[in-house]
Amino acid sequence: MELKGRESFKATREQIWEILMDTPTLARITPGISRLEKIGDNAYDAIADVKIGPVKASFKGKLTLTDITENDSFVLNVTQNSKIGNVAAKVGLNLVNEGLNQTALAFEGKANFSGTLAGKGARILSGVASSLTKQFFASLAEEIEARDFPEAKPEITQNNSNVNLHSMSHEIKMFLNGKEQHVTVESRDLLVDVLRDKLRLTGTHVGCDTSSCGACTILINGKAVKSCTMLAVQADGTTVQTVEGLATAEGFHPIQEGFKEEHGLQCGFCTPGMMMTAVDLLQRNTNPSEHEIREALEGNFCRCTGYHNIVRAVQHAAAKM
Ligand code: FES
Ligand code: FES
Repeated sequence: MELKGRESFKATREQIWEILMDTPTLARITPGISRLEKIGDNAYDAIADVKIGPVKASFKGKLTLTDITENDSFVLNVTQNSKIGNVAAKVGLNLVNEGLNQTALAFEGKANFSGTLAGKGARILSGVASSLTKQFFASLAEEIEARDFPEAKPEITQNNSNVNLHSMSHEIKMFLNGKEQHVTVESRDLLVDVLRDKLRLTGTHVGCDTSSCGACTILINGKAVKSCTMLAVQADGTTVQTVEGLATAEGFHPIQEGFKEEHGLQCGFCTPGMMMTAVDLLQRNTNPSEHEIREALEGNFCRCTGYHNIVRAVQHAAAKM
């Protein structure tokens, strides 16, 4: 029978390797294992109780690891005997880097059965294998969460006056405007460029690229952030809201209503950033004074309106929220 699967985990390859090489943890998270004892450098005595259809069988035998490349891969060789037949399996396991703090555990191999087991039928046996794999992956994910590993940060190297980010692709995951969004980015990509150019969310504007104008303001985990000052990889695992995420099926967000009703825009270039900054303010302070509104918006420039109507727009939204 062919064995094949892959699952992604929020951890580095080193962190997953640490768990896989820790015998007591492995015994705890592997379904059915009642005994796992190290008997040599890369060999274990194992007893596993497995339910196959209506029959529960106790398997005893050996597990050995070969072709080991630390933090990367190994081959698991299994020989297990039971009253209802024997299993011999050879499975290659690989840890695949999927980005910062994201690793896939992939496996591929073959299992051969003898005795009564061999007559159980491929559908039953592959059902058992897939259920055991699912349980193992779920327990591994729980173990990773329980260990609360420190997150790896993007590597930065400094070379005289030039800061050089390693150019490398990463798949990042964001909860973007209410939906899970996966996107592959380079280490050096700015978040604003990924939003505009890769995800086509062009409501987030670029007015200066030097962190002055606020046109690129979005919400990260509910807080206003100038997205031209942030690397896309730093948004991995965060909740991101752009101006496109303000309106709902029920209609405009109160801040959008406010800008419309109070004529808070002329050319509209600064408006998305103004609105996102205002939403951050109104989430923290539902009844801001004019002074507090002007203070909150001081990092957002408008070349057209003279700001008075923008302040009124925020006051209008505050009254509705
Ligand atoms: S484009 Fe980000 S602050 Fe101007
Ligand atoms: S409305 Fe034109 S820059 Fe603000």
